Amino acid sequence: MEIIKLENISKTYGINDGKVEALKNISLKINEGELVAIVGASGSGKSTLLNIIGCIDKPTSGKYFIDGYNTNGYREKDLAKCRNSNIGFVLQYFGLINSYTVYENVELPLIYSKRKKRKELVLDILKKLNIIEKKDKFPRELSGGQNQRVAIARALVNSPKIILADEPTGALDKDTSQQVMDILIELNKQGKTVVIVTHDENISKQCDKVIRIEDGCINSVD
Ligand SMILES: Nc1ncnc2c1ncn2[C@@H]1O[C@H](COP(=O)(O)OP(=O)(O)O)[C@@H](O)[C@H]1O
Ligand SMILES: [Mg+2]
Repeated sequence: MEIIKLENISKTYGINDGKVEALKNISLKINEGELVAIVGASGSGKSTLLNIIGCIDKPTSGKYFIDGYNTNGYREKDLAKCRNSNIGFVLQYFGLINSYTVYENVELPLIYSKRKKRKELVLDILKKLNIIEKKDKFPRELSGGQNQRVAIARALVNSPKIILADEPTGALDKDTSQQVMDILIELNKQGKTVVIVTHDENISKQCDKVIRIEDGCINSVD
């Protein structure tokens, strides 16, 4: 069953002379439980594509279905709700709040979605990601790999079906990158749909499917 379906999606930034066609008529299906890499040169449209899949951004034209629901009519509020219940985002520079502890960073999505029993959920996910002993530390006190584990914990705490990762290993060394990849592979084995934007062939070759983007178009899928 396809959990992500894009039909003729285009995205244009700016107007007149400043116009950039970041995505040009992209159609794409991702099945539930797939582990997918999106690769392509810098500026080719990878982040734009991931942001549309993640309901952070809206396409200029085309249709986007998530879990069978057409998101086209969604207003900002609906998109935020859709994002909160379906999507976990992981970013290159972790996107953690520096003045919050590890615990507080991971709790944040639960506060947004007004969840109860937050403590139990946060501690449980921190345990699963082997980072529980750092719960009262601040991001600056952690290594890159540890911060990325915190960011993954935050992405997972709402139990989303889909994990989207934008160059999640881009700021990490080779060994730490593989540790983060191993976590993403494990989550995929547990049934999550995982989409990873990456420059690193070591990462993309471990995925079921590789989507190559060139100048806003899908060049190949294999
Ligand atoms: N918010 C924005 N406003 C204007 N142009 C943008 C914006 N975001 C991205 N772009 C442009 O869209 C194109 C695709 O960008 P992006 O999706 O970030 O590429 P990638 O992630 O592959 O490096 C680039 O030309 C970029 O400059
Ligand atoms: Mg990018």
